[in-house]
Amino acid sequence: MDFKNSADWTFPVPIYYGPSRVDEVSALCKRHEITRPLVVTDRGSSELDIIKNLIGQLNISGLKCDLFSDISPNPLGNEIYKGKFAYRAGQHNGIIAIGGGSGMDGGKAISLIANNEDDLWKFDYNFDSNTELKNFPPLICIPTTSGTGAETESTAMVTNSDLGMKFCLWHPNQKPLAAILDPSLTIGLPRNLTAWTGVDALVHAIEAYCVNDLHSPADGVALEALSLIGDNLKVVYERPDNLSSRGAMLVGSCLAGIAFLKGLGLVHAISHMVGAEYDTQHGLTNAVILPSVLQFNEKHISNKINRIHFSQYSKPGDFVDFYKATCNLLDELEIPKTLKEIGVGDDRFHELAVKARKDAAAFTNPRDASIEEIENLIGKVYSVGR
Ligand SMILES: [Fe+2]
Repeated sequence: MDFKNSADWTFPVPIYYGPSRVDEVSALCKRHEITRPLVVTDRGSSELDIIKNLIGQLNISGLKCDLFSDISPNPLGNEIYKGKFAYRAGQHNGIIAIGGGSGMDGGKAISLIANNEDDLWKFDYNFDSNTELKNFPPLICIPTTSGTGAETESTAMVTNSDLGMKFCLWHPNQKPLAAILDPSLTIGLPRNLTAWTGVDALVHAIEAYCVNDLHSPADGVALEALSLIGDNLKVVYERPDNLSSRGAMLVGSCLAGIAFLKGLGLVHAISHMVGAEYDTQHGLTNAVILPSVLQFNEKHISNKINRIHFSQYSKPGDFVDFYKATCNLLDELEIPKTLKEIGVGDDRFHELAVKARKDAAAFTNPRDASIEEIENLIGKVYSVGR
């Protein structure tokens, strides 16, 4: 970190936190003149009471809404185009993206192309997209898991089936007009998803803090996120109806999501490509990969690990302590040890490594990794893991 350098920092959008705050969505829509919102979620969430309740609330308030839920766990490009069609067919004038990572990513990606004719893939994070574009629909994001942390930005991970790759899509002029953090929405989350999404948030905070970039605001929120997640992840795993801990996890997840404005690292670079190829759950994939990437990065993050350890565990610790504690936590959360155990094949390591090397998250990993090194890393996580 060199404080003689200069840096540009932006911070995100209004955040409304608290139990039952989802009841304020209709009023929020009206304040922003959204009269025909399109509610977007993933297929798996479409039948949940929290979605039905939201639709009911909007209808009672006189807002003409439709639900679009044709979104996979790893959202696909053709689904985003279908969503754009639904947006236009229903003459909508705003989007409410609700769900875990896939539901929100679906809604956010649809918002990027809803009002313009640009190709979806032109919004790739690394692509110099048309920065003049401003014609985006107003967007409200409502997370129903404590993991993705994707509610304060327009960034959306979408799989390009033709290329078998996930791309991070966004536009600097598209920001959610608000994020609503309502912990009561996360109470019913199943135990395995609670663990997997919680570890995703943890990995966001760790990887963001380890990015070698001067971004003190992001570093500060990353450490606070680690503190909240460290205190509460095991609590919500053991006691899913603990509203206070659910709330702390939701805030921790949101802060971790803000922190990764700095970037992420190799855990996500590899996980994105594994998820695109094998349709594995994102947080679970990250959880399996994390220990091996920590080892790979050890010498490049040792100066940061003591602060990460202290934030997460409220006591000092070096790399060895942190690695052990991480493995213990993953064991307690019943995370499998290898990629093999979660259904990944052993015949595409090189292909996955080539793609992971191109992922935006690989460029901010604290240690530069060659394709061969990433391939070896994937092989290790496949067969040995932690
Ligand atoms: Fe993630």
